[in-house]
Amino acid sequence: MKVLVVGGGGREHAICWKLAQSPKVTELYCAPGNAGIAQVATCVPVSATDVEGMVKWAKDNAMDFVMVAPDDPLALGMEDAMEAAGIPAFGPHANAAVIEASKAFSKSLMKKYHIPTAKYETFDDPAKVMAYIRAEGKYPVVIKADGLALGKGVVVAATVEEAEKAVREMMEDHKFGASGSTVVIEECMVGPEVTVLAFCDGEHLVPMLSSQDHKRAYDGNQGPNTGGMGAFCPSPNYTPDIAARCEKEIFQPTVAALQAEGRPFKGVIYFGLMLTADGPKVVEYNARFGDPETQPILSMLDTDLMDIFQACVDGTLDQVDVKWKPGAACCIVLASGGYPVEYKKGYPISGLEEAGKSAVVFHAGTKKADNGDINQTQKRYRDIGY
Ligand code: AMP
Ligand code: GLY
Repeated sequence: MKVLVVGGGGREHAICWKLAQSPKVTELYCAPGNAGIAQVATCVPVSATDVEGMVKWAKDNAMDFVMVAPDDPLALGMEDAMEAAGIPAFGPHANAAVIEASKAFSKSLMKKYHIPTAKYETFDDPAKVMAYIRAEGKYPVVIKADGLALGKGVVVAATVEEAEKAVREMMEDHKFGASGSTVVIEECMVGPEVTVLAFCDGEHLVPMLSSQDHKRAYDGNQGPNTGGMGAFCPSPNYTPDIAARCEKEIFQPTVAALQAEGRPFKGVIYFGLMLTADGPKVVEYNARFGDPETQPILSMLDTDLMDIFQACVDGTLDQVDVKWKPGAACCIVLASGGYPVEYKKGYPISGLEEAGKSAVVFHAGTKKADNGDINQTQKRYRDIGY
C-alpha cells in the first residue's frame, strides 16, 4: 500500500516509524514531515492545513490510504475531503472532530448523555462571565477559550483578579483570536490526571495503554506550560478497577453519544481524565493522537498499526486483537534553552546516532541543512501548528 501521513511533529514521526514496520506498507510518505521522518518516509512539501493541496497530491500520486494526525486539518475537514475523493482516510469527519474543536459542544454532549465532567457554564458576553464567577465565589475557577488554542486556552485562576485578567485577554484582547469569543467556565477538579487514547471505528472502541504527559518546561513541575516536555505509559494511577469504570461510565457512553448524534467517530479519541474523589471525570476530549503521549505509546504497541487503522476505517475494529508489550516506556523532550518563551533555533543537534543506540529518537520541527547537519529550524508542532 502507498500510505500518506499528514503532519510533521514527534507524534507523526512515531506513527511513521510504526507504519514503516508494517509488511503491508510498501511506500510511505509524510507531509510536511521533518528530518527524522525522512529516515523512514519520503517527505512531501505540502502544508498540513492545505486541504485542497493535500487531496490533489494524494490523488496525483495514487495514495491507497491517508492518515490525518493533527487537529487543525481534521477540524478543516481533510478526512471528509479525502473520502469525497475516494481515498480511504484515518481520522474523524469534521462533524466528529468538533469534540476537540469546540469545548462548548463537548461539554453539552457530556451533559446531555450524563458523562461525568466538571460543572460548567458557557458565555459569549464578558460582563456576564464575571458576574457568574463572582456569584459562584469558588476559587480556583477554570476559564477556557471555546475553540482550538494550541493547548494554551485554559487558565486555572486562583483569585478574582486572575479570572478577570483571563477573561479580558480571551474575550476583549482576543489573545486566541475567534477561539476566545465564547468561553467555558468550569469548577476546578482535583486529583491525578491520566490520559487514555482509544482507537475507534464509529461503533467499537479499543483503549490504548494509559499515559501521563508533563507540561511544565522545567524540572520539579516548574516553569511555563508547554506543548508537552515528555510522557510515560502506562500510568500507575490507572488501576484495572478505574479502567473498568472509565470504559463503562465514560468511553462507551461517549462513542454511543456521538453515534446517536449522527457524528460517528472513527479515528483516535483522546480522553483527558481526572481521577477525583467522586470517580473519574472528563477534563477534555481531543479528536486525535496526543503529542508527546503517542511516542511512548506506539513504542509499546505489538500489533500492526496499519491493520488497526484499516479496521477503524472499515468498521471492523472488534475483529482486531490489539496487543501491547509488557513493561513501560518514557519519552523525554529535548528543546533549545529558553523554550517555550524565547529561544534560538538553528543549532546543529549532535549525538543523535549515539542516542539512537539505547533509545528511539523521534524528531519534531527538525530539518537537514545543506551541510548534512540536523537543525531545529521550526517550532514544534504543538507550539504553532506545524
Ligand atoms: P484542557 O486543554 O481542557 O486539557 O486543559 C488543560 C489543563 O488544564 C488540563 O490538563 C488540566 O490540568 C487543567 N484543567 C482543565 N480543566 C480543568 C478543571 N475543570 N479542573 C481542574 N483542572 C483543569
Ligand atoms: N499532550 C497533550 C495533547 O496532545 O493535547
